[in-house]
Amino acid sequence: MRAIAFLGLLLIARQAYAHYIFDTIIYGSKSSTKAIRKPAENAPVHNYTGSEITCNINTSKATQTVSIAAGSKITMELGEKKTIYHPGPVTIYLGKAPSKAADWEGTGKRWFKIAEWGPNLNPFSFNNIIGKSTFTVTIPKEVLSGEVKGALFIS
Ligand SMILES: *[C@@H]1O[C@H](CO)[C@@H](O)[C@H](O)[C@H]1NC(C)=O
Ligand SMILES: *[C@@H]1O[C@H](CO)[C@@H](O)[C@H](O)[C@H]1NC(C)=O
Repeated sequence: MRAIAFLGLLLIARQAYAHYIFDTIIYGSKSSTKAIRKPAENAPVHNYTGSEITCNINTSKATQTVSIAAGSKITMELGEKKTIYHPGPVTIYLGKAPSKAADWEGTGKRWFKIAEWGPNLNPFSFNNIIGKSTFTVTIPKEVLSGEVKGALFIS
């Protein structure tokens, strides 16, 4: 099993009505809010080609990098005891940092998707997402040792 260092990015809403910040990462028996970058506000990002796509705007620095073994689970938790009430697809990405995750702003084509939650079809609904406050994903065993950032998007 390989250890990876995971520096949480924020988790942002991308739709006019979806306003969420996931501010806690839970890994094993531990959790952290310091390994998360938090934007100044939860306003949706409209410009997909601008720098704010990586972590919204005026985002705080993460002050902690946590070590998580590839193959183990992480859970991202919504802040302020919220649950999802304006639904959309949820995706989680990892990005390989050029060196230290703490020093990387998240730019460039270094990201890969490791999880997604879409709608139920026929009948169409987002009942699998509405009301949730956490999303759990297994870090793929194939992820090599090194520093990565994570990002969760709601669109
Ligand atoms: C972001 O920071 C700039 C410069 O300090 C400020 O003008 C702007 O109002 C801030 N935006 C938000 C959403 O906090
Ligand atoms: C989006 O961001 C890009 C890159 O910063 C910029 O060139 C473009 O003008 C922005 N588009 C809008 C509509 O603000």
